[in-house]
Amino acid sequence: MEGYVSVAAADELKPAQMKRIAVGGKRLLLCNSSGTLHCVDEMCSHEDYSLYLGCIRDGKIKCSLHGSYFDLATGKPTCEPADQPIQIYPVKIDAGQVWVKA
Ligand code: FES
Repeated sequence: MEGYVSVAAADELKPAQMKRIAVGGKRLLLCNSSGTLHCVDEMCSHEDYSLYLGCIRDGKIKCSLHGSYFDLATGKPTCEPADQPIQIYPVKIDAGQVWVKA
């Protein structure tokens, strides 16, 4: 667990919910997509806009400003206008907590 930081209780997020977290000085989002937890950059790669204002659907997070979707497993955009990925971060669940390494 070296380098991992506890960011939430394991049962804190329900499917389609997300939580803003700060790890290593980075602003990140912890996302529950159909029971699977992902951690990604909070800000969209297209413009400086928070993905926290979007929604989670079918393994993707949607930017509510221009409508790009990003695959939560890879960070890659699946539709325009964004053409750059967002960063993804490793997530582990241990001892009833969610741990993120960033
Ligand atoms: S700011 Fe996210 S798609 Fe434009």
